[in-house]
Amino acid sequence: MPRDRPTAPPFEPDALERSLDRYLIWGIVFMVLLVAGFIAYQVREPGLRADAAKAQESSYRDIGTQLFATNCSSCHGKGAVGGSAPVLNSQQFLKSTTDLQINNLIAGGVPGTDMPPWSLAFEGTLTDEQIRQITTYLRSLEPSAPSVPAWRQGSKSTSSTTTAP
Ligand code: HEC
Repeated sequence: MPRDRPTAPPFEPDALERSLDRYLIWGIVFMVLLVAGFIAYQVREPGLRADAAKAQESSYRDIGTQLFATNCSSCHGKGAVGGSAPVLNSQQFLKSTTDLQINNLIAGGVPGTDMPPWSLAFEGTLTDEQIRQITTYLRSLEPSAPSVPAWRQGSKSTSSTTTAP
């Protein structure tokens, strides 16, 4: 008498199919959520970055304004309009000088003149960040800076009683 073979459990194609469909649907749902999230991020991110950059710039400018008043205006004048030292609030200076150049001029000073070095690295009193804050302040003056052709001569450049040096 042949022995009965073990019989496989009954194959239920319907149940299997329903289970696969469930996985498929959840897979699609997650994919759609992922893509939607990614798109939302892409749309929001540049705005968030721009806002952060703007906020940083305006706080840098405010701090730089204070630092300039404390450290620089004795020679460069209140509002950088010039004194014994050049008029930094002028188209001529701001248009011809990059931020990096301004940073370097402040950090290292102008050897052989009254302009001292300000960077801690050159035994000055300002950190690199404070120097960048002052540069941000000076750059913020550019849109409304007047034209002062003789800006290098400081307040003499705007006075009517200009005397020959
Ligand atoms: C003791 C006076 C004095 C003080 C304080 C001073 N400066 Fe000057 N600064 C000068 C003089 C003078 C010059 C011009 C040097 C020259 O003949 O090239 C100058 C030049 C500069 C220049 C270069 C302009 C150019 O392109 O030739 C910059 C930028 C500048 N100063 C920024 C500053 C800043 C910012 C501060 C404050 C952290 C400051 N200075 C403080 C006297 C001063």
